[in-house]
Amino acid sequence: MGIQIISKKASELTLKEISIMNDSRVEIWGAGAKVDFKKDDAKGEFIFVRNKGKIMAFGMMKPVKIILDKKKYEILGIGRGMAIEKRKGWGKILNDARILRLKESGKTGVAFTGRHNLAFFEKAGYKIRKNQIRKFLYKNPEGKLIEDNDGDLVYYEGKDKFVTKLLKSKNKCITDSDFW
Ligand SMILES: CC(C)(COP(=O)(O)OP(=O)(O)OC[C@H]1O[C@@H](n2cnc3c(N)ncnc32)[C@H](O)[C@@H]1OP(=O)(O)O)[C@@H](O)C(=O)NCCC(=O)NCCS
Repeated sequence: MGIQIISKKASELTLKEISIMNDSRVEIWGAGAKVDFKKDDAKGEFIFVRNKGKIMAFGMMKPVKIILDKKKYEILGIGRGMAIEKRKGWGKILNDARILRLKESGKTGVAFTGRHNLAFFEKAGYKIRKNQIRKFLYKNPEGKLIEDNDGDLVYYEGKDKFVTKLLKSKNKCITDSDFW
C-alpha cells in the first residue's frame, strides 16, 4: 500500500482521525486550537493523504454561502490544512487533491492564511491576494457582521468568477460561515 488519498464526510471521521488532527493543531497553536470538526465543519469534506496507512497530511473543504452585490454564490471554503511532517511534499499532494475537486466541481475555492504560507500556496497552484480577507464579512447567527482584517486571501477561481467580481466590487461580501 503506497500513497492514498481518502475523502470522507465530517460524520464519518473516526476518533483516531479527530485526535490526530487536533493533536497536530495543539502542537502548533496551543490548547485553544482544538476543533469540534463534526460541529464546526458539519458539511465539510475531509481529505487525508496517507502513506503506508499513516496520515501524512489532512485538510477540509466545506460549502460556504456568500452574498456579493445582492447576488448569491456558493463557494468551497478551504481550511484545516496541515502536513504532519513539513517540507516532504505532503501538503502539495493534499492540495493537488483539493484542486482536482475544485476543477471537477467548477466551484471557487477560498482559503485565508498568513504571510508565511503564501509561497507554499502559490507553488501548490492557487492565486493569492495579500490582505484581502478584509473583503469578507461573516454574518453570525445573531445577525452581527464580523470582520477580520488580518489575513491574506488564497483562491482557485471557478466558473462563477467569484473572486474577480469580489475584487472589482467596491463592496464586501457576506458569508454564512465564520472565517474557516
Ligand atoms: C503549510 C503546509 C501545509 C505546507 O505543507 P508541506 O508539506 O510542508 O509543504 P510541501 O513540502 O508540500 O511544499 C511544496 C512546496 O512549497 C514549498 N514550501 C512549503 N512551505 C513553505 C514555506 N513556509 N515557505 C516557502 N516555501 C514553502 C516547498 O519548499 C515546496 O517547494 P518545491 O515544490 O519548490 O520543492 C505545512 O507547512 C503546515 O502544515 N503548516 C502548519 C499548518 C498551516 O499553517 N496550515 C495552513 C493553514 S491556512
